[in-house]
Amino acid sequence: MFEIGIQLRRERGPENVFDYTLGNPDVEPPEAVIDALRRVVVEDRPLSHGYMPNAGLPDVRAAIARRLSERVGTPLTGEDVIMTVGAAGAINTLLKSILDPGDEAIVLKPYFPEYRFYIENHGGRVVEVETDERFQPDIARIAAAIGPRTRAILLNSPNNPTGAVYHADVLRALDAIVRDPVLVISDEPYRTLTYDGVEPPETLSIVGRAVLAFSWSKAMAIAGERIGYLAIPPRLAEAAQLRGACTFANRILGYINAPAIWQRVVAQVPDATVDIREYQAKRDRLCDALNAMGYEAPRPQGSYYVFPKTPIPDDIAFTGLLLREGILAVPGTGFGRGGYMRLSITLPMSAIERSLAGFERAIRG
Ligand SMILES: Cc1ncc(COP(=O)(O)O)c(C=O)c1O
Repeated sequence: MFEIGIQLRRERGPENVFDYTLGNPDVEPPEAVIDALRRVVVEDRPLSHGYMPNAGLPDVRAAIARRLSERVGTPLTGEDVIMTVGAAGAINTLLKSILDPGDEAIVLKPYFPEYRFYIENHGGRVVEVETDERFQPDIARIAAAIGPRTRAILLNSPNNPTGAVYHADVLRALDAIVRDPVLVISDEPYRTLTYDGVEPPETLSIVGRAVLAFSWSKAMAIAGERIGYLAIPPRLAEAAQLRGACTFANRILGYINAPAIWQRVVAQVPDATVDIREYQAKRDRLCDALNAMGYEAPRPQGSYYVFPKTPIPDDIAFTGLLLREGILAVPGTGFGRGGYMRLSITLPMSAIERSLAGFERAIRG
């Protein structure tokens, strides 16, 4: 898609290409984050550029744990938090720690395609389970998929690609079926990107066997800085062993530790979040326009993805039609759900406006 985008821009001019494929924040980080970065950079800290404990700076971990405990109502200390290289680093660190070759990890379709690679990186086997018609986890199907080799269930709410936010009652039902040694990995990089006042339920508060993979990539629009964390609640029987394994895995996967400067920044302003209003305006404009044209494009509750049905069942053919209009979209097949496409609203409102005529021509055939 990236290559096609470059070629299209060359052929048609950049102003006639509308790239809805890249999930890369297109807003600036909050002022508070840049201010904290400036403070951290000029602070006088002797010998602060060397190696550190692999799990991260102790005072940073303690600060993050304090904030998280308040939020989820579960007591956590700095020991329970491991600073990671984004959510990708957190998930890989955890999977490396818990999977033996041939162990299974459940993913809920449609899902972030990298999950397959993360699982297979560590010799795991991917088990795909369909979500329901509202893209909520289907507990009966998950229960049926859990077997003797199941070690993990990956949850992602707010969801990429659907924008769904999982309901508390669904999480409660999940809690009732998950038993040792299965862990629920709650991947939450979009937690703070929600619309219309929706607040995603706290998976750590509801699911006893959940661990949290968080990242500031999207919350602060700093995806290139690679900063996140893993939280392992002490109530897990294997918590101490798992912490040790993850700390070691963080190192031997080659991350060593999360970026030092960014650990210090996020500890100062852990809750700073981009202004959601810009994404919300784009979500509303795009969904309203598509629905008026005859697309089925429900407004996502969170994330910055819109996941409409394609007007014809063949999503790859339909995204080919859009391509003729200079519109780049990802076929749902790439996420394990044909008949849909993912549109990332991380492009300017003016580009969305100019792309609408192309969407209209594509649906009229
Ligand atoms: C669902 C999901 N999980 C994890 C990641 C990786 O995030 P990070 O940049 O924090 O590694 C992404 C990035 O797009 C994502 O969409």
